[in-house]
Amino acid sequence: MERWTDNIYTEIKNYNIPNHIAIIMDGNGRWAKYNNLSRIIGHEKGIKVVKDIVKICSQIGVNFLTLYAFSKENWQRPEIEVNALMYLLELYLISEIDELDENNVRMNFIGNMDDLPDFVVKQINNCKKRTKNNTGLTLSIALSYSSRLDIINATKKIIKQAIYDTSIIDKIDESLFAKHLTTHNIPDPDLLIRTSGELRISNFLLWEIAYTEIYITDIYWPQFDKEELFKAIIEFSKRERRLGKISEQL
Ligand code: FPP
Repeated sequence: MERWTDNIYTEIKNYNIPNHIAIIMDGNGRWAKYNNLSRIIGHEKGIKVVKDIVKICSQIGVNFLTLYAFSKENWQRPEIEVNALMYLLELYLISEIDELDENNVRMNFIGNMDDLPDFVVKQINNCKKRTKNNTGLTLSIALSYSSRLDIINATKKIIKQAIYDTSIIDKIDESLFAKHLTTHNIPDPDLLIRTSGELRISNFLLWEIAYTEIYITDIYWPQFDKEELFKAIIEFSKRERRLGKISEQL
C-alpha cells in the first residue's frame, strides 16, 4: 500500500488550486473503438486514470473531487456493459479502500443507491464507514445519478415537511433547498472538467454548477493524465470569477 507524498509537483504550486473539482469522465468507449479494443477495456483503462487523478488531486490540495461514474440514463446501455461497469466498480472499491483510507480520503456517494446491485451497495457502505472520520480529500462518486431527479426529490421532501408546517414555505431559499439535495454535504464545484469534447452537461450537478468554471478538453478519459489536469487548473487560475459583480469590485 502506498503512502502518498505531499505535493511534489512544483509546476502547479503557484496556481490557484480549485477547492472542488467535478469531472464528467467521457470517452472510454470511443477511446477503445479507436484502439480496436472492447468498450469494457476502455472502462478498465478509465479506472486506472481515476486512481491516478484521485491521488494527484489529494497531493496538490484539492479538497473535493466529484466523479460522474454512472448516470441514471446509463442503465439503458447493453446489459453486458452495465454488468461489467458494476463489477469494475465493486473491484475498484474493494482494491482501493485500504490505500484511500491510509491517505485520509473520505469517500462519499451521490445518486440513487437503491438502484444499485447489493454487491456494490455492500462495498459503498464499507467505504463510507471506513473513511467517515477522514479529513483529507472528499471523493464523491456519482452512481445512478440524475440531477433533475435529485432536484425533484428535494422538492418532494420540502413539500412533505410543508404539509405539517406551512411556515416552511416562506423559509425556502437557495440554502434550504440545497440542504435537501444529495450533494448537501459538499460545496459547489469551482471547476467542472469534461473530457472527449462534448459540449453538454448531461444531467450532472445542474443546481450546483450555477457559478462553476467549465473546462472541456477533446482528450478521451483514458488519455487524461497529470498534464491534462494541470492544463485545466492553469486555465481555471486565469479565469476571473466575478460571481455577478464587476472586475473593480473584486
Ligand atoms: C463514459 O465513457 C464513461 C462512463 C459512462 C463510465 C465511467 C466509468 C469509469 C471511468 C469507471 C468507473 C468509475 C469509478 C469511479 C471507479 P463512455 O462509455 O460514455 O464513452 P463513449 O461516449 O466514448 O462511448
